[in-house]
Amino acid sequence: MMESLRAAADFLRKLGEPEVAVVLGSGLGDVLPIEDERVVRFTEVPGFPAPTAPGHKGEIAIGVLGEKEVLVQRGRLHYYEGYSPEEVVFPVRTYALLGVKVLVLTNAAGGIAEGLAPGDLVLIRDHINMLGFNPLRGPNPEELGPRFPDMTHAYDPELRRIAHEVALELGIELREGVYLATMGPSYETPAEIRAFRALGADLVGMSTVPEVIAARHAGMRVLAVSCVTNLAAGIAKHPLSHEEVLEIGRRKAAELGRLLAKLIPRFPL
Ligand code: HPA
Repeated sequence: MMESLRAAADFLRKLGEPEVAVVLGSGLGDVLPIEDERVVRFTEVPGFPAPTAPGHKGEIAIGVLGEKEVLVQRGRLHYYEGYSPEEVVFPVRTYALLGVKVLVLTNAAGGIAEGLAPGDLVLIRDHINMLGFNPLRGPNPEELGPRFPDMTHAYDPELRRIAHEVALELGIELREGVYLATMGPSYETPAEIRAFRALGADLVGMSTVPEVIAARHAGMRVLAVSCVTNLAAGIAKHPLSHEEVLEIGRRKAAELGRLLAKLIPRFPL
């Protein structure tokens, strides 16, 4: 595994040496324009699994934002697509070997907490892993990180503080919440959503958690933002659709893009 991760990192290093990587989720692929970008498709990177989900692009761009060199991953790999846990976190581990210090994750999520509405941007404060797996299972790659990584400050408190500052300056409303990850691909039942709410979940989605675990394992700092695309099952009265999720994602993209464009140059690197 380390061999193929190193090969992927060496390949990307020819395009640049970013210290920040941003993963753009469902319907959010266009939110963050960068300058001087070099773009490769996942399929061109040695060892990278190919993407399949509609609304996901499957490309990596390395370029400049403010004074910072950044990597932008447009589209991601979900467990429900059939990838193994190792494949799901392959990109994030590659970025760690590339020298990335801060990982920014975005996703589309269903809103569970009272008061959340479609279009809300929510900073993830913590998560609940209901995926049914942990990507670190198996022999521990010691070069990457420890066997039993701490997850207390998985979502970096200092980066969250800066994100709130920037949101305030831009007049963007940014909430905070706990993200619960399910395997998908079916949306949840109303009974599951009631159970998740009782467990302390504010948001529900099908991604992000494996990447956060792998990133923390490898010592990267993490910031994650959910775009609430719909109210979770049983809260809204109408059935959920992927089209609704993609449409709200696109509409809120501009605001999320403005936030990230001003925030990332301020990261303390
Ligand atoms: N549930 C799970 N994942 C999601 C949802 C949802 O309601 N909305 C967007 N991603």
